[in-house]
Amino acid sequence: MTSYTLALLPGDGIGRDVMDEAKKVLQCVEDLTPLSLTLNEIPCGGKYYLETGEEWPKGSFEFCRDEADAILLGAIGWPGAKTKDGDLAGGAVILGLRSGLDLYANVRPIKLYEGVRHKIHGEFTQVWKPGQVDMIIIRENTQGLYHALLRRSADKAQGREPWEPEDMEFPGLEGEVAWDPRPISRAGSERVIRFAFEAAQRRNGAPGDGNTRVTCVDKSNVTRGCQLFNRIYHEISNDYPDTETDHAFIDAFCMWAVRNPEWYDVVVTPNMFGDISTDLASVLQGGMGIAASANLGDKHGMFEPVHGSAPKYAGQNTTNPMAMISSVSMMFDWLGDTKDDADCRAVGDFIDRAVAEVLKGDTLTYDLGGSAGTTDVGDAVVAQLEKMLREHFAVA
Ligand code: IPM
Ligand code: MN
Repeated sequence: MTSYTLALLPGDGIGRDVMDEAKKVLQCVEDLTPLSLTLNEIPCGGKYYLETGEEWPKGSFEFCRDEADAILLGAIGWPGAKTKDGDLAGGAVILGLRSGLDLYANVRPIKLYEGVRHKIHGEFTQVWKPGQVDMIIIRENTQGLYHALLRRSADKAQGREPWEPEDMEFPGLEGEVAWDPRPISRAGSERVIRFAFEAAQRRNGAPGDGNTRVTCVDKSNVTRGCQLFNRIYHEISNDYPDTETDHAFIDAFCMWAVRNPEWYDVVVTPNMFGDISTDLASVLQGGMGIAASANLGDKHGMFEPVHGSAPKYAGQNTTNPMAMISSVSMMFDWLGDTKDDADCRAVGDFIDRAVAEVLKGDTLTYDLGGSAGTTDVGDAVVAQLEKMLREHFAVA
């Protein structure tokens, strides 16, 4: 029997609601497969900070680094929760782990499942067809415009004095100035761009024409950091002669992604551009209730829905848990690959199929035009998953 230790970080707001549904899925896997899962739930986030004065209990970073095989995160962010230095309280968790564990590739699949309608101009429609939207956006996750905050967060997570950039003068600017350096390094770009090309080799190409394509999205007409990123993209592309190269400036990409999503297969982009464009692109797949993600490095993986904590919906049993459940599926896929474990791979695939099956039905939350609760959707996924796992693993 293979056993895995998982760190569960529910965090804030609806992160806690959707984590409860993830736990049902994990329980089902524990009960019906040869996998044995040890779950360690760690309280954390902005609300926890307001209550305790800490972003998470001491030793949590070390647990995630040294004990956990994978990390599941709900969401971070609570109104009014700022640390003494003004940073997002809970940043030591989400950003401290991204930076401190070198989770350099933030993988965000944008896939439209059958039956899912997207809400635009207040109505549910089906502008795009399932076969037209299937891309992954890979967001650089350890530098760029987040660099200073990521460094500070990693330092706080590990009990070090938080790094601050040296003061700089800005000719032409008077009075108070706040600034965020946006360094982009060769090594940091190489690893995430190579990751993107490798990811493309394992896919079936862009939905529109079946071509394997990696699109570099940047602002290299304007910024030096993006010029370096773009140059390295072209260097690395030489190692993948059968993969089509493609480029879009971030502003144009936002337009093309909506007008022509079938063109895109794998997209790679610096940190903040990935943050923004993945919220936009989530509309193509039915919204943030569907958008899952993986934060991956060479040794560690953290999996989380893209949606954030949405405090005003917390605890109401209305949030769509699919983004979280799909993140659990991505976790098993990744465990399957990194540990070479066929059972994990199968489980990842079955969870994805169970999600797809439920999305075809009418047990849907409000964001997809239904009236089901968070718990109903979680139960429906578990019911589908149970059938599949029983059959595959031949459990009585
Ligand atoms: C995300 C979130 C985070 C980010 C916040 C919560 C720090 O928006 O994962 O997309 O900006 O990266
Ligand atoms: Mn975001």
